[in-house]
Amino acid sequence: MRQRSLPLPALIAASLAASLACTAPGGEPTPAPPPALEEPSVKPGVNENFLAEDLDVEEYIERFEGESREVAVHKDGIVDRIGIAPGMAVADIGAGTGLFTGLLAKEVGPEGRVFAVDISPVFIDHLRERSLEEGWSGVDMVLCTEKSAELAAGSIDLAFVCDTYHHFEYPRSTLASLFDALKPGGALVVLDFERIPGVSREWLLGHVRADKQTFTAEITAAGFVLLEEIEVPGLDENYMLRFARP
Ligand SMILES: C[S@@+](CC[C@H](N)C(=O)[O-])C[C@H]1O[C@@H](n2cnc3c(N)ncnc32)[C@H](O)[C@@H]1O
Repeated sequence: MRQRSLPLPALIAASLAASLACTAPGGEPTPAPPPALEEPSVKPGVNENFLAEDLDVEEYIERFEGESREVAVHKDGIVDRIGIAPGMAVADIGAGTGLFTGLLAKEVGPEGRVFAVDISPVFIDHLRERSLEEGWSGVDMVLCTEKSAELAAGSIDLAFVCDTYHHFEYPRSTLASLFDALKPGGALVVLDFERIPGVSREWLLGHVRADKQTFTAEITAAGFVLLEEIEVPGLDENYMLRFARP
């Protein structure tokens, strides 16, 4: 029988309590649980399109950055609420065509750094070109793997994962790499689709493998603490959650 999931406020309370229970007597946070050695793919082939050598970037610019996409229309409101301060090192995990990358670079300013991370070699090449064309500064492109964000340990203050968590084919391994990449006290901000059978669009029910409660449970099992759900005016189909790396 399918277990009923806890409502989000209860998940936040449970997550904070679990995090306190995991703090060693000296106050040192315990490390994240290790990922399984051979983690199975949660959705084989989910990134096939993005990994294709002949990926048509123009088509994806239209798809990702057009008026029909809620997160594109409300990108400024989203960026305002992520919690970025000047000077931060921020990772745009699954940067795609770069919808958010340049905006994040503006927010961190000249003292900050943005890592545009993606598994798609074609998107990474495109991001390099776009960076030159638009004069982004302080942005490094990182071609990562499906199991690791390939960022140095303790190198970032915040990881922003927009419309990408449900594309993680090996979420436990990727989350472990993000846990290591974040500085203690750093933030993981996840924006993804609400998935509600009977309410969500048919396409979305097939495309997104699980709901907010399931993703939250996976992320907290990786050692993160759920802090809050961030309300973004205009977002109906998507939610945004802030987690901390203890
Ligand atoms: C739907 S797109 C979202 C792009 C961008 N964040 C946006 O909202 O416009 C998902 C992106 O995640 C990338 N991706 C999939 N799995 C990934 C992983 N494990 N690590 C990093 N990027 C990943 C894909 O290549 C793709 O560019």
